[in-house]
Parts: sequence; C-alpha cells; structure tokens
Amino acid sequence: MAQRNIVVGQSGGPTAVINSSLAGVVAAAKDLGYDKIYGMHHGIQGFLNEDLVDISEYVKDKNDIELLKRTPSAFLGSCRFKLPKIEGNEEIYDKIFEIMEKNEIECLFYIGGNDSMDTIKMLSDYAELKGKKQRFMGVPKTIDNDLPITDHTPGYGSAAKYIAASLKEVIRDNSSFGIEKPTVVVVEIMGRHAGWLTAAAALSRGEDCEGPDMIYLPEADFDMDDFMARVKKLSEEKSSVVIAVSEGIKLADGRFVCELGSASDYVDAFGHKQLSGCAVVLTNKIQSELGLKSRAIEYSTLQRAATHLASLTDINEAFTVGYLACKAADEGKTGMMVTIEVVNRDPYEVAYNIYDIHAIANVERPVPAEWIVNNGTDVSEEYVKYARPLIMGELTPMMVEGLPRHLVLNKSTYRK
Ligand code: F6P
Repeated sequence: MAQRNIVVGQSGGPTAVINSSLAGVVAAAKDLGYDKIYGMHHGIQGFLNEDLVDISEYVKDKNDIELLKRTPSAFLGSCRFKLPKIEGNEEIYDKIFEIMEKNEIECLFYIGGNDSMDTIKMLSDYAELKGKKQRFMGVPKTIDNDLPITDHTPGYGSAAKYIAASLKEVIRDNSSFGIEKPTVVVVEIMGRHAGWLTAAAALSRGEDCEGPDMIYLPEADFDMDDFMARVKKLSEEKSSVVIAVSEGIKLADGRFVCELGSASDYVDAFGHKQLSGCAVVLTNKIQSELGLKSRAIEYSTLQRAATHLASLTDINEAFTVGYLACKAADEGKTGMMVTIEVVNRDPYEVAYNIYDIHAIANVERPVPAEWIVNNGTDVSEEYVKYARPLIMGELTPMMVEGLPRHLVLNKSTYRK
C-alpha cells in the first residue's frame, strides 16, 4: 500500500527556537497519522542529493520533543541555497519532484526566513505549472523579524531576550569603572538590513538598568560626525557609555560602516554581503580620535543560539506555526506560510492564519520610521510595547553534568 510521507527542511540562519518549529511539524505529522517523517539534511541543497534523515529515529516520544525544543541551531542542518528561475532550469525542479515521488512524499515544509520562503514559492509555482499534487508550506523563522504580513517571526523573541539580558550584564560590568574617563562599549547586533533585533537593546531598560545610551538601526542613515560628537559629550558627562549598533548601519552614501574596516567581500547565494565588524570600526575611531578606552562586543552567533535563555512565548509560537503548517497542508493548502496575528498585546493574545507565499518571499519588512527617534539614536516606547510580550517566559534546559543537554543528529560533519 502506498505510504503517506512528509519532508521538512530548515534553511537560513538558525535561531534558538527553529527546532521547536521542527518539533511542531513532527508532532502534527504523528497526530495526523503520516507514515514517515523525513528531514532534509542541510535543507533543499541536501534534498537535491537525496540526503534524508528519518526523524522518527530521533524523535520517538514526548521526551525527545522536549529535548528538541531545547536544542539550538538547525537540528537537521541548514543551507543558504537559492533555487534558480524555472525557465531553463526545469531539470532541478524535476529532480526534486522525482525524489518526492520516489519517497512517497506528499507535503514539503520549509522552516525559514524571506529568502527561504522563495523555495516554497518556486516549488508551489512549479507544482501548479505541471499539475503536480504535492503540497508546499512555509514555516516562518528568523531572528531578523523582517518577514511581512506576520506580526513577528519565531526566533525573534528569544534573540531579543538574549540581547536585552546580556546587555544588562554588559552595562553593569561597564559601570564598575570610569572614575576619570568612561570606557565606551559598542555592542554589534545582527539583523542585516532590518533593525528589529538591535531595537531589542531598549528592552534592557528598567528599574535596575538605564539601558544603552544610544541605539542605531540600519533603517536610518548613520552620521559619523554626529555619532562622534555624541560619544564625546556622553563621555564628558558619564562614567559608563554603552551603545548598541546594528551590523547593517550605513552612511548616507550607501556604504556599510563595517566596510570602512577590513570587512570581507563574502557574498552568499542570495547576494547578501557578510555584515560584520562595524563595532570594531567605531571603537577604533573612538580610541584614536577621542583618546578613550573603547571595547567592541559582537554578539554574532551567540544571539541566535542561546536556547538556554529562550523565550517560552517564542518556543510555544514556534511549535504552533510548525504544527499548523502541517495541519494546513494535510487539509490541502499549498504555497502558503503560517502567520501570527497579535489580537491583544496586553494581556497578550495571538491568532494564527495562513497567507499566500508570493506576498512574503524575498520581501524585507523594516522597523517603522516613526519608531526610530532622537535623530536616529533611539527607539520609541511603541517599540517596547510591541516587543515586551515576545520575550516573556522561560523553559528550563535539561541540565546534565552542569550543562544544557541537546539532541544531536548522528551525521558526520566531514564533507564528502
Ligand atoms: O538572517 C539571519 C542572520 O542571523 C542575520 O541576522 C545575519 O546577518 C546573517 O544571518 C548571518 O548569516 P551567516 O551566519 O550565514 O553569516
């Protein structure tokens, strides 16, 4: 008898809760009685080599689901791979459908951000073009929080929580000294061309923490002279100066600040430059031109891998979008992504919908201009009201020998 199987892949930069979405897809597929639950080893790129994982071998019971939820990075392995345009490249698409047919796969799920949703768009378009019956659903994920239509993306709340929590610690540390002159700390935060993640620095403000002195998002032009004048003034007034900057801050002429240093020319399959190093550029300038001690902290992968401090709200939503994507595909939906709608912010209440992938793939949603205040050096209270509910709650790691336990795929990390 023919089997009813599904396949799920993870794509793009990992998050602290990308595996919760995987757990959601797996839980739904089990509830809906699918026979085999395949995982793509390294996304669609691995799938093209028929590199499949039988997820049921790893996720056998509720305990494994719980461990998967507490595991950072993409359990199945990720990729940054763009499917080419259909015209002239049909053999790639035929190969994907051939692998699906051979393995009796009815539905394909892709957990990813705006670039990754392009894969769902292309595959569902091809299925329609060729009258194929397989279904394709997107599961939202990105720490950048820049997907349109959905209120926010799973992964964002946890990265925001890590940023705000660690920034509180950095601010405490930096406040220890500074009798004569302050140390100026510049913290560099990911997010590419969207400032959502850097804005999360504002969440550190509270009764016990004054928060960063300035916050710079990539949506506003970065004025170097104004920045240096502000740092000088702050250093004359304060014993500690801490500034949050997005990795993607740009000068008015379009140059990234990180390019003013020795940033690499690396460009990924989607044409994205690797944006890294602007904090070093700024601290070098502060040291040499203002004669101040200055330290660059690049949160880098830490901010998207910190499952030990993930937001429970985020974990639960990530699980639910995975679960609902599987349910929607089972009901016959295709070429869509699950979205989160906030019905009420306080008390926090959400609803889930599905939306046409064509309006989502490859589209970047910036932080609203009205939320960027003080001449581009801070974010408004509206942002704080928006983001605060997303960082609420914790899920205790499963501690073994003093460290969080993870679920690990038994595949070689050596390249063939
Ligand atoms: O898209 C998620 C993200 O973490 C961005 O914020 C960041 O610019 C990028 O990925 C980094 O990608 P990589 O880890 O491939 O260098």
